[in-house]
Amino acid sequence: MLSLACTPIYIFTGFKLVMRLRRPLGLYAFFYAMLHLINFVWIDYGFNFSVLGEDLFEKRYAIAGMVSFLLLLPLAVTSFFKLRQKMGKAWQKLHFLVYAAGIAAVIHYIWQTKIGILIPVIYGIVLLLLLIIRLPAVRKYIENHIRRSSRQVSTGNQ
Ligand code: HEM
Repeated sequence: MLSLACTPIYIFTGFKLVMRLRRPLGLYAFFYAMLHLINFVWIDYGFNFSVLGEDLFEKRYAIAGMVSFLLLLPLAVTSFFKLRQKMGKAWQKLHFLVYAAGIAAVIHYIWQTKIGILIPVIYGIVLLLLLIIRLPAVRKYIENHIRRSSRQVSTGNQ
């Protein structure tokens, strides 16, 4: 969520430095997901892969979690500078996967919850807003209207 929030913050404020946080925050998300998966395989299943394999596909929340993890994996692997440069535009296209990973993570969160889905649903709403702001028409509107009028207010130039 934090990594996905950088571009909307930039769209609203024009503060470019925030864009530099996308990569470290994205890698942190992947790192968290990896520790979370290791925890599941180790603590919950004691590395018993046959039982794990059976259970994994019976639990819908685990399938959604796995989908999210598998979508984050190529992004993390290709995030290193040299590889990123070599891939050029293909790297940017690959990054559309992050939106699907976010959606799968929220579905996973909603499905795994045992008591009340309020918090996961709030995450879902936040994610939806973060994605809507990126739509070219919405982005253009914010940049042309909201950002411009706040600039005018701050320079007292109304
Ligand atoms: C194969 C992949 C995954 C598996 C098997 C898995 C499994 C689980 C399990 C068993 C829980 C419940 C934990 C509990 O009851 O204490 C859980 C919770 C959760 N998972 Fe995953 N997960 C996976 C991937 C992911 C990914 C990729 C993300 C995010 C990017 C994620 C985010 C979360 C969150 C936010 C919770 C709720 C934690 C909480 O309530 O404190 N999971 N997951």
